[in-house]
Amino acid sequence: MRTQVAIVGAGPAGLLLSHLLDRSGIESVIVETRERDYVEARIRAGILEQSTTDLLREAGLGDRMGREGEEHRGIYLQVPHERHHVDFVDLVGRRVTVYGQTELTKDLGRARAAAGQEIRYGVRGTAVHDLDTDRPYVTFTGPDGATERLDADVVVGCDGSFGPCRAAIPAAAKQTWQRTYPYAWLGILADVAPSTDELIYAWHPDGFAMHSMRSPTVSRLYLQVPTDTDLAEWPDDRIWDALATRLGHGQDGWTLTPGPITDKSVLPMRSFVQQPMRHGRLFLAGDAAHIVPPTGAKGLNLAVADVALLAPALTALLKDRNPALADAYSDTALRRVWRCTHFSWWMTTMLHQSGDPFDQQLQLSQLRWLATSRAGQAGLAENYAGLPIGL
Ligand code: DHB
Repeated sequence: MRTQVAIVGAGPAGLLLSHLLDRSGIESVIVETRERDYVEARIRAGILEQSTTDLLREAGLGDRMGREGEEHRGIYLQVPHERHHVDFVDLVGRRVTVYGQTELTKDLGRARAAAGQEIRYGVRGTAVHDLDTDRPYVTFTGPDGATERLDADVVVGCDGSFGPCRAAIPAAAKQTWQRTYPYAWLGILADVAPSTDELIYAWHPDGFAMHSMRSPTVSRLYLQVPTDTDLAEWPDDRIWDALATRLGHGQDGWTLTPGPITDKSVLPMRSFVQQPMRHGRLFLAGDAAHIVPPTGAKGLNLAVADVALLAPALTALLKDRNPALADAYSDTALRRVWRCTHFSWWMTTMLHQSGDPFDQQLQLSQLRWLATSRAGQAGLAENYAGLPIGL
């Protein structure tokens, strides 16, 4: 097989990239180790920055998101007995949209299928080759057991942190940075109307808690838990009790309504950045190049921002033989990556119990500042609602 752009990974980054390339007349083939059903069902974040929704609309992907997505003006930040609304629209003129990654992935999958996009699901042993030449290629074993070869002008790794692309950049040609946080999240999805109109981020001595949502009938909630947490020790009642305590059930007339839990998982918290995001004819986008802890919901938005830079860069490279944007891709993308890496680290370390009483006092001081300073709130709002693409 031969194509212009071989894309490894059919998550939101890979699907969106093939969609944008197609719109500018560039052909691509996607290979993916998982099956389509798995990719479209895996539960991930659900908050889209305004720059993300703007880009999706411009790309013709905004119909269902416009109907079913819920626009939020801001978030609530909470310490025990005090809840403060931070109004992004008022502060920076930008809003966010609640629309699950699962829904976006389904929309992208349908749009690609309608366009006749070649996507090879369920492949094994994907490997990338000859990245230092202008004839790179990808090999993989198809579901029928036959080894196949995909030749391309460019290979793009949208294959997350465990895929082969990140690892294919030689150690001597890259630098990595990482931080592992000493806590995890227990996340639940519940068939119950959200008990809040906008997201609640709650600092609490027992640990961080958050109330998010996916739709008017589905709630998504999180609890800070130890990294070695065994889900068997968290029956539904214990989860709802902990959420009620940390989110302030019964305070100022606010109540948390529990409901049937349909999904339960423990999420690790990690920051990771690999630089550069390009090696020869291999480009990385999304989790393949960087991981943020979930606080602040930046992961999906960062992946979309990478792809928004990469699609025009590859178009100019392959159509006009102009390498300027492709050569600038890594440095340009990494500016936003580090901004979001800092923001996610800041939100995470401000809100989670580390076990250190000095940290606790600093956290409470920052939260008091955010509750009372418009300048502080504007900084949070600018980062949360999303900086312009190409920042
Ligand atoms: C969600 C996740 C986040 O990390 C966050 O900051 C906000 C919302 C979510 O899954 O809905």
